[in-house]
Amino acid sequence: MIARCRVALLGFGTVGSAVARRLTHPDAVPCENYLDFTHIFDRRSSMKRAAHPELAGVVWTDRIDDILQSDVDVIVEAIGGVEPAASWVADSLLAGKSVVTANKQVVARHGVRLRRLAARQGRQLRFEAAVGGAMPIVRAVAEGLAGDRITRVEAILNGTTNAVLSQIDATGCSMDTALADARAKGYAEADPSSDLDGEDARAKLAILCGLAFGLHLDPIRIPVRSAAHIAPSDFDDARRRGGTIRQLAHADYDYAASRLTAWVAPVVVPRSSIFARTVGPANAAVVTGAHSGETGIFGIGAGGDATSVAVLSDLMAIARDRAAIVPAPVLTTQFELQPSDFEPISDLPLRTSDFVLRTSDLELSSITLTEAV
Ligand SMILES: NC(=O)c1ccc[n+]([C@@H]2O[C@H](COP(=O)([O-])OP(=O)(O)OC[C@H]3O[C@@H](n4cnc5c(N)ncnc54)[C@H](OP(=O)(O)O)[C@@H]3O)[C@@H](O)[C@H]2O)c1
Repeated sequence: MIARCRVALLGFGTVGSAVARRLTHPDAVPCENYLDFTHIFDRRSSMKRAAHPELAGVVWTDRIDDILQSDVDVIVEAIGGVEPAASWVADSLLAGKSVVTANKQVVARHGVRLRRLAARQGRQLRFEAAVGGAMPIVRAVAEGLAGDRITRVEAILNGTTNAVLSQIDATGCSMDTALADARAKGYAEADPSSDLDGEDARAKLAILCGLAFGLHLDPIRIPVRSAAHIAPSDFDDARRRGGTIRQLAHADYDYAASRLTAWVAPVVVPRSSIFARTVGPANAAVVTGAHSGETGIFGIGAGGDATSVAVLSDLMAIARDRAAIVPAPVLTTQFELQPSDFEPISDLPLRTSDFVLRTSDLELSSITLTEAV
């Protein structure tokens, strides 16, 4: 018999409102219902409460202290941004609450400190939703493949950019038209620059480097090349070479030399690869282990409903075992980051000829992309 677990939500936006919907419709959760949804914190709580009479049974507040001083067991952070979200996650842990966060920026920049704090407090900090939306890559890397020595992670981690690039690929439309379409479908924000420029994906890649290789990597150090200037003609070039273009996040680690290669860039991928087949807001990853070989994961990477699955899964994991001891991560900063020959945060147009395909026809294959000589 599982004790009931009281849940508060910080932020009633895209993700927060989807989580609230799921928590108030117990039939939507395919298990016994042991989550009690009790509080919502939002800066516009009065207005949003009035617009959501179905959530009248929940305490709404615009005072964070009301949540911190409440008797909730778990706080879901769905505010976004670095501050005040990072401070509120720390405050929640200090107040004896476990935390589930969807916030890649907080986890990438403050995850090590916050996970240590959680361990010290005997509480849990879970963040499946911060990487890959509904694609359970955090658990896959941190738990499912923990018995292997992971050597490489290659992934599409930004649903917005993927929706835009796959739309240009499918229709030959311009970047502006593809962006308008993505916005209309709810896949892109008004300002998608952090998605297209690789900012979002590199925060997620930094988290994965911690989980996969045990490295403490500031996301700002990961070189990125923007996908913002890709044109239909770039896709024509890629097509002639048997490929298409996707924004990939790549990391491989040479344990013997303590050398990491990591980047986020739009690159040519083989037509038959899992990445070329990833269209719309989907995400995909191929994780390579020394013993397990390649493991592929695929799923919807963005959107409230899909992301709420990851949040609910974390909530259920905490509720099932609230006393679980989650050890603090032991990450090293003693490694060399291989320099890339393109400028960080560059606006350079894609030069697809920079990338040569070594393998071109394997499904879920190793997709090795090297700089052309
Ligand atoms: N959307 C996705 O598909 C997705 C997928 C995976 C992960 N995530 C992550 O989930 C988090 C939330 O994203 P989202 O798309 O749900 O964002 P969002 O729609 O902007 O929702 C954020 C909510 O928090 C509120 N808020 C922001 N700052 C606040 C503050 N200082 N005090 C009180 N309330 C505050 C906002 O209020 P206002 O309405 O007044 O702005 C809004 O209701 C982010 O970390 C994001 O990276 C999102």
